[in-house]
Amino acid sequence: MSIKKKITDTYKKKIALIKKHNKYYYNDDKPQISDADYDKLKNEVLDLEKKNVYLKDLNIFSETLGAPPTNQFKKINHLKPMLSLSNAFDENGMIDFLKKIKNYLNIKEFDLDLISEPKIDGISATLIYENGLLKKGLSRGDGYIGEDILENLKTIKEIPKDISRQNVPKLLEIRCEIFIGKKDFYILKDKFANPRNAAGGSLRQKNPKDTSKIPLKYFAYGFGVIQPMIFEKQSEFLKRLNSWGFLTNPLSKNVKGIDEIEKQHKSLDSIRSSLDYDIDGLVFKVDDLKLQQRLGNTSNSPRWAIAYKFSAEKAITKINNIIIQVGRTGAITPVAKVDPVTVGGVVVSNATLHNEDEIKRKDIRIGDTVLIQRAGDVIPQVVSVNISKRDKKARKYIFPSKCLCGAETKKELSKNTKKRDAVRRCTKGYDCEFTAKEKLKHIVSKEAFNIDGLGKKVVDQFWNLKIIKEPSDIFKLNYNKINELEGWGDLSINNLKKAIKDAKKIPLNRFIYSIGIRHIGQENAKILAAFFLSVKEFSKLSDLKNREKILKNLNELDGIGETQVESINNFFFNKKNVIITNNLIKQLDITDYSLKSSKGKFSNKKIMFTGGFENMSRSEAKSIAENNGGKVLGSVSKKLDLLVVGDSKPTKKKINQARDLKIQIISEKEWNKILNS
Ligand code: IVH
Repeated sequence: MSIKKKITDTYKKKIALIKKHNKYYYNDDKPQISDADYDKLKNEVLDLEKKNVYLKDLNIFSETLGAPPTNQFKKINHLKPMLSLSNAFDENGMIDFLKKIKNYLNIKEFDLDLISEPKIDGISATLIYENGLLKKGLSRGDGYIGEDILENLKTIKEIPKDISRQNVPKLLEIRCEIFIGKKDFYILKDKFANPRNAAGGSLRQKNPKDTSKIPLKYFAYGFGVIQPMIFEKQSEFLKRLNSWGFLTNPLSKNVKGIDEIEKQHKSLDSIRSSLDYDIDGLVFKVDDLKLQQRLGNTSNSPRWAIAYKFSAEKAITKINNIIIQVGRTGAITPVAKVDPVTVGGVVVSNATLHNEDEIKRKDIRIGDTVLIQRAGDVIPQVVSVNISKRDKKARKYIFPSKCLCGAETKKELSKNTKKRDAVRRCTKGYDCEFTAKEKLKHIVSKEAFNIDGLGKKVVDQFWNLKIIKEPSDIFKLNYNKINELEGWGDLSINNLKKAIKDAKKIPLNRFIYSIGIRHIGQENAKILAAFFLSVKEFSKLSDLKNREKILKNLNELDGIGETQVESINNFFFNKKNVIITNNLIKQLDITDYSLKSSKGKFSNKKIMFTGGFENMSRSEAKSIAENNGGKVLGSVSKKLDLLVVGDSKPTKKKINQARDLKIQIISEKEWNKILNS
């Protein structure tokens, strides 16, 4: 055995040992060695790395540090969900953002006041003050349930603990970003992959004393609940935060219109490297809080804010191979295996090539020297080839016509554009083991069943061991078998059991989203759930005779188009999908689609809109109805209580149908009157 190999083996063994003790300490809460022995072990590894630099390139040690799992913190419901932001990557993205806001509010001619704030790439947390005293501190968690990390947050000196003398609202929830300064990170750089990981690791230490060892900083940028509400503008809120003793980012600025947006974006991009913290873009927010409230949220992000990212970080590397990957919709994506290279603090060894046409267009070959880029959480991609560096041995990639499962693939014809799709797809669905595995990953994901402890890696593991073969298996796991696997202790199994038990109860809209019908995202799933109301009705799609009738009705739903209807048809046409979906349904308690809140002006009323309105968009009208206890339907039927007819181009057919069914019909004027009453 070569010396190098021997050293590598020792190194790997020591790391495996650290991992084992991490698990005893963090997962099982039963440390098997003293802190001193643990530190000694860690130092031995660091020592080996220092003497043998090549070990660091293996990049395995950083993974083992600073990532204790979640289950040791108490879980607490957020007073208000902590959503994420949608992204814009260029001027067009921002123009689109402004346009959508104006459409939603149905305003035309004025430049909206926005506030621009640097977007720090850190860890978000929320601080709850009751009568001015810091009472709770939570991590974001899944956005709905956070973890109690109050004691760790308290170690950050600059976070005010008592502002009771400042005459603050009784209940004050402050959202902030926790980060590590670049200079401070420099000292820790051997232990963590990047500043963000380091901040996360520090915040999630079991012992606040360990948190205090890693210097955390913060900026406050937003609020959850404030009672009583005393602010009218975001900019005013930030100023006041400052006077109360919170740190806010001094680079925030009010702007108006696309030119000022661009100017601010360029200006901060040019100084970002001189800041002591990483920013990955700017957040633009509608400054007026009343407008923010009118705009509200889509499923995951507010309509009133957007993250305008800086252009991606780039690096040069070499393509060693090209492989294909299969997605949950059967999409075949070519992926370049590249020489590992650090891009924006993360080691990248895979980069997407998008599709067959893209490889041809850019003339990308195996062996080529290429420029790759990574923007935020987006998968790294190959941007261009340096032809001058092309090796004689570089060879063209022949795109396979078959899926990894062996089945022929197809390029579909798009109903909307009438063009052939650039993406090849395997159409075998669950009959393709590669597609099936990805479908499972979708099912357990955050927006679907949200099963903690059943991440992508675990799905891979369980799939390979045939512990899970189809979605229903998740709810029939053989825990004895899992107990025998490496890395699974009693505690982690109990956590998994509980997470799966909790996931069994699922609202109809989430269930519809989870089963992964192509073109049915979270919003469409809600529209469908509002139409079917119960899983019993939804299941009728499995039956061919019923299906034809139902699909005709779906076509009339506001928000559902031909593409969606065809996709639903395709999904249920596939017998395996039907069997698998029914097997899954048997394991679950799927709750009927229900009103968001049943209290309000339209309590339990089923409402439909037709035509355009002068003071608001139809989308806003719908969400007002929902927020006031109503349920919005997409088609006229006996179930409907109220049809609201906007002045601009209402559909005659719908009005006539409603009239025939003796449903109450009101005009735009009457609608406005009800809202103002
Ligand atoms: S506002 C409803 N403002 O970015 C979400 N977020 O992707 C409102 N972030 O989780 C977020 N700086 O951790 C906002 N000035 C800023 C921010 C900021 C950093 C982070 C935050 C959030 C994530 C959203």
